[in-house]
Order: sequence, then structure tokens, then C-alpha cells
Amino acid sequence: MKLVFATNNQHKLKELQAILGDHFELLSLKDIGCFEEIPEEQPTLEGNARQKAFYVYEKFGYSCFADDTGLEIEALNGEPGVYSARYASEAKDPQANMDKVLEKLENEDNRKARFRTVISLVLDGEEKQFEGIVEGEIIREKRGGSGFGYDPVFLPSGYSKTFAEMDLSSKNEISHRARAVQKLVDYLKTLA
Ligand code: IMP
Repeated sequence: MKLVFATNNQHKLKELQAILGDHFELLSLKDIGCFEEIPEEQPTLEGNARQKAFYVYEKFGYSCFADDTGLEIEALNGEPGVYSARYASEAKDPQANMDKVLEKLENEDNRKARFRTVISLVLDGEEKQFEGIVEGEIIREKRGGSGFGYDPVFLPSGYSKTFAEMDLSSKNEISHRARAVQKLVDYLKTLA
């Protein structure tokens, strides 16, 4: 069965293909000739993931899944959330984004935060969603050089290393995205 993952990240695609095995042939946006930017205009992660998956389903006719992730900080009422990529500006600069978070939390003792990933799967026009969460806190200064985005300021609960101080396999054992993907994979395997 062919299934589109609404991404152009070949790395993400390969990883998932390996987990899913032969029953599903994963295709990227490029593979199906989708070169336009897919709209993400919704105010929630759920809405954006859904919009992307249905866009591909309706325009290209393939069953599809799409993900959307945000960092949700309790003391900031869930900000930056769906705006995580462009929190500081449209430049999508991770350093500026982290600086903005650190500044906003400067006098805040409640440092609780979580990453949340939502995956929307649209199979033959029917949608199912899967969520993955990792709880943690925002530390007071950046630590570590791996990863991307907000990794240097995010300390997962129960760990002494930030996401940016972990190697990729350790991060993947507990990450929001890995948890959402695992739920998706478990579901797809029931169909295989
Ligand atoms: P996306 O939906 O995967 O593109 O994620 C949106 C934004 O959330 C990214 O641009 C990052 O700023 C942030 N983000 C998502 N996943 C991670 C992560 O694993 N570590 C740090 N930041 C992340």
C-alpha cells in the first residue's frame, strides 16, 4: 500500500520506512510531484496536521499522514505552541526563538514545558490522529550542540542532559515525535 508522508525530509522518511517494513511504500512530497508549500494556517497543531494531510489527499489522491510539533510552556499559556518555528520572527531562527523564550521566563520559577507532536493520518478520506508528548522544563541557559530547534534549552523530566546534549538515539527513545510515530506505526501494523 502506498502512503505519503507529507515531508521532504528524506531522513525522517527513511527512518519510518525501516520501521514499517514492506507492507507500506512511503512516498515523499517530491515523489508525488508536490513541490508547492502546503498551507499551515490553523491555530492548533491538530488543525495544521489535518490541513496538510487532507491537502495531499484531496489534491493528489493519496492516503497520507502529516505531523506538526510545538513547544508548550506552561507559564506562557502554551506558547510558542503552533508558532514554535517562527516565534521570534518569520526568519525561523532557532537562536532567536530560544532567546525569546529565555527572556520571557527570566523572572519565572515555573519552568514546566513539553513538546507535543500531532500526526494526522488520512486513509481513504477518513482521519485518525496520534499524539506524542515529552514533559520537561526550560533551563536558564542553552546547553549542548546536537539536535535542532529548542533542544539546547529543553531538559526532559528525569534526565540530566538537555535534548541537545543527548545523542540522537537517546533522544529518539523518549521524544514526542518518536512517541507519536510509534502510535501511528502500531495502528498501521494492525492494517497490514
Ligand atoms: P515541525 O512541526 O516538526 O516542523 O516543528 C515545528 C517547530 O517546533 C520546529 O521548527 C522547532 O522550532 C520546534 N521543534 C519541533 N521538534 C523539535 C525537537 O525535537 N526539538 C526542538 N525543537 C523542536
